[in-house]
Amino acid sequence: MTSELNEKRKTLGTQTSAQVAGEVAREVAGEMSSEGDAATTRVPFTLRSLLKMVRSGEKFACLTCYDATTARWLQAAGLHVLLVGDTAGEVILGFPNTMHTPLDFLIALTAGVKRGAPATLVMADMPFMSYQADDAEAIRNAGRFMTEGLADLVKIEVDRSFAGLVAKMSRAGIPVVAHIGSRPQHVKMHGGYYAAGKSAESAIALLDDARAMVDAGAMMLLIEAAPSEVAEQIVRETTVPVIGCGAGSSCHGQVVVLQDLLGMSTWQPTFALPTAQIGGQIIAAAKVWMDRVKSGQLGEHPYVMNDAQRASFCETLKHRSAAISRVEPTQ
Ligand code: KIV
Repeated sequence: MTSELNEKRKTLGTQTSAQVAGEVAREVAGEMSSEGDAATTRVPFTLRSLLKMVRSGEKFACLTCYDATTARWLQAAGLHVLLVGDTAGEVILGFPNTMHTPLDFLIALTAGVKRGAPATLVMADMPFMSYQADDAEAIRNAGRFMTEGLADLVKIEVDRSFAGLVAKMSRAGIPVVAHIGSRPQHVKMHGGYYAAGKSAESAIALLDDARAMVDAGAMMLLIEAAPSEVAEQIVRETTVPVIGCGAGSSCHGQVVVLQDLLGMSTWQPTFALPTAQIGGQIIAAAKVWMDRVKSGQLGEHPYVMNDAQRASFCETLKHRSAAISRVEPTQ
């Protein structure tokens, strides 16, 4: 696709950059929509499909996603898992960290993502204070993610002290992803974001957390910000799929924040280097729109009057203006 578009760029050499951008975007959209059509008919990718991949040694890919439209394109790309992360609080709502992400908001976003990508495995993140205070409340909130939010899995940030809750959720039929290692919802406890398992002692603690979560019934582990040898050991010891987020390449799957990958973030983790520059493309597209508004060249106007209606409209206007001038107050 890229080489064809580059060729097209060359043959369009005499046009303005805005015209070329429009031409290229239409071609990409054309190709993508046929891929999108194919993806809507794809066989649903389920937890069972994922376990099969892991067993056969194939890596699975996960990205965060917060809306139905993006979910549709990510499903068209063939993504295996979409995470409706509590990073929505930062990416969508502009908060400085994930502690402010509202529960109802995240449930609504999760449902939107699943509606956009019905054949993709959707993991919902439980936000701060939706599962820490009370186990019964946590199970009810997790249940809301499954029913109202249409989620396939729920993720909670934990250490081994949450084993009881994970067991209760699993007993209730809720597939739990245990997020261990760096826990962004603990940002205030550390005075900033932090890495986990960098000392021998904390590495062993991380292995113990992983084992406790699997023993309690967690269906998957997610390790955030940890040395690769620690993650590698967890992968070796565990019986469930392990997703890494800054935990090295030995994990069965990998997740990063979509906006980091798309070149839309102001800060870039080194393990999520951009594969596109959508931020720059948004600026270019907005500038083209501003030019169009200024010049009045908005494209073909779709709403038209037939000749008879136009004549009747003009006639009515004449009578109206005559009537208005009759009632105008005198000075
Ligand atoms: O909320 C999120 O986006 C996450 C990933 C970064 C792992 O938890």
